[in-house]
Amino acid sequence: MSPAADQYGVFGHPVGHSLSPFIHGMFARETGQEMSYRAYDVVSEEFVVRVREFFERDGRGLNITLPHKIAAVEVAHELTERAAHAAAVNTLALREEGILGDNTDGAGLVRDLCDNLGIVITNRQLLVLGAGGATRGILAPLLALEPAALVIANRTAERAEALAAAFTDLGATRGVGFTDVGDAPFDLIINATSASLTGDIPPIPPSALGPDTVCYDLAYGRSATGFVRWAEDAGCARAFQGLGMLVEQAAESFYLWRGVRPDTAHVLSLLRVRTGST
Ligand code: ATR
Repeated sequence: MSPAADQYGVFGHPVGHSLSPFIHGMFARETGQEMSYRAYDVVSEEFVVRVREFFERDGRGLNITLPHKIAAVEVAHELTERAAHAAAVNTLALREEGILGDNTDGAGLVRDLCDNLGIVITNRQLLVLGAGGATRGILAPLLALEPAALVIANRTAERAEALAAAFTDLGATRGVGFTDVGDAPFDLIINATSASLTGDIPPIPPSALGPDTVCYDLAYGRSATGFVRWAEDAGCARAFQGLGMLVEQAAESFYLWRGVRPDTAHVLSLLRVRTGST
């Protein structure tokens, strides 16, 4: 890669495990784009300064991952509508007017669910676990597909209630504690908590899961995540981890930066081999 190649990267902490350099490296190779992409371990206290430095030194675009997605809202000079709705940013792009903040997580999830996995959202009962930044990022695109209902369940019920209230104008949504999700099975359960990081499983009642329920964990790992294992142990035939969403949100970021849409199927299959995941 020539030193003059356009610079991109991901800021996170920790970030050593990030697959984004591999994904964007493959996208760049397969679309013939001259660019470099690397992971930067950036602690919260240094986040704003490091972002400014990156763009002052001719950086062209960044992905933003945990724990900086909310802080990145402040560092952007302008937000896309979907980032403003999410109140979280996972992509920064240098524009003539300054730094643009976008959020491609929701679009990435919807692409993986609908296009890759063939899951129907419209008129279905959805349960989203968690009420943090990850959930905020996916609500608007999910509600745009008009589910029959979207329940947000969270350890801290008040956060779920507040989040649901902020999105009621976009569709039928309500916020509850984990034990108050009702006793009818959902069509789709999405785990957007960070509980997987500690191996905890949100304590939702077993009745939330029926024989046809699809489970999807935004997290991914080398082996099945705790949530995917929990779902499979409970009899769920279709439980997925978020590797597809990772690749699809990356493709959306890549498109924003380069104006070229990469092919995701090939990269996703390479990644499944590389990570040993299914
Ligand atoms: P993120 O950007 O990943 O959403 P966050 O804003 O810190 O990060 O939110 C983390 C989410 O995971 C929250 O919904 C949190 O629940 P609380 O609002 O009650 O804190 C949830 N979470 C984290 N650890 C959890 C655990 N061990 N069990 C259940 N939920 C957990």
